[in-house]
Amino acid sequence: MPIQKSETLPLRNDQEVVLARQAVRRLAQEYKFSLVDQTKIVTAASELARNTVIYGGGGELTCEVVLEGVRTGLRLIFSDQGPGIPDLALAITDGWTSGNGLGLGLSGAKRLVNEFDIVTAPGAGTRITIVRWR
Ligand SMILES: Nc1ncnc2c1ncn2[C@@H]1O[C@H](COP(=O)(O)OP(=O)(O)O)[C@@H](O)[C@H]1O
Ligand SMILES: [Mg+2]
Repeated sequence: MPIQKSETLPLRNDQEVVLARQAVRRLAQEYKFSLVDQTKIVTAASELARNTVIYGGGGELTCEVVLEGVRTGLRLIFSDQGPGIPDLALAITDGWTSGNGLGLGLSGAKRLVNEFDIVTAPGAGTRITIVRWR
């Protein structure tokens, strides 16, 4: 799948989560996503970026604009070298948190995008890829 544009941002603290959210918003606007779609992808990005900082111990976000035929998509890849997610099915359950959250970040993000993929293993970090098509 051709990549039209790619940028990588650090995710180490709350401030960088804000910057990442702004970058996603800007890209979604630049590529003419509807306001509703902008809000969906930005909300999903915000949740996943916060998880990267809180649970992953920091990491990075790669934002890609991808082309597939006539479709344009925004692909976001969140990666960290943290502890990984031991039980993925449990982690993605509505309302389950290992911390003090609401447990709606992963499940909510999944519902807000068109594609959602997690690669993780205990001790080997976490990589979450989402795509929203325009
Ligand atoms: N990047 C990550 N690394 C390790 N564990 C994670 C990561 N992201 C999510 N998790 C685990 O998945 C759980 C559910 O995440 P989420 O649905 O966002 O809820 P919350 O952030 O409210 O805990 C977290 O409590 C945590 O245990
Ligand atoms: Mg969360």
